[in-house]
Amino acid sequence: MKNLLVYGTLTGNTESVAQQIQQIIHDAGKELEIKNINLSSVADLAQVENLLIVASSTWDDGLLCSDMADFLEENTAELPDLTAKKLAFFGCGDSNYPKFCHAVDTLENVFTSKGGQKVIDSLKVDGYIEDENNQDKIKNFAQELISWL
Ligand SMILES: Cc1cc2nc3c(=O)[nH]c(=O)nc-3n(C[C@H](O)[C@H](O)[C@H](O)COP(=O)(O)O)c2cc1C
Repeated sequence: MKNLLVYGTLTGNTESVAQQIQQIIHDAGKELEIKNINLSSVADLAQVENLLIVASSTWDDGLLCSDMADFLEENTAELPDLTAKKLAFFGCGDSNYPKFCHAVDTLENVFTSKGGQKVIDSLKVDGYIEDENNQDKIKNFAQELISWL
């Protein structure tokens, strides 16, 4: 597949943002598959031809959400070589917590270490996703992605 977005979520916010991004990209006539990380395999990641987007919310003092943490714990050694692949990252969090969206930083470290190139600034959604400021940020992020698809 050409472009894939995998996401980890606990209460559904990161999934909602993933669906919104997919809709904007489809409306622009581009392809993007989205998949919950708990239904994804290393083989899915290896099949990405162009752009891989990885997303996770942050829980428990800066940690990845549990599904993303489990996937990486089981598969870190087997992650595909991402050289020549484009990467982007986002996640939901809350800046009332000291390690705001720290999961996004963790994902950047893990996946860029496999050789991929982060092509746009990561998106950190703060609090209520329907908030106007968050909606602007989500739309801008999706629009920026379109030029890389
Ligand atoms: C117990 C608890 C711990 C949390 N810890 C953090 C944190 O350390 N950093 C952060 O940015 N957000 C934290 N959050 C906020 C969540 O990341 C936020 O609610 C997010 O929208 C959840 O996304 P999800 O529905 O995709 O899992 C925490 C929320 C709860 C309830």
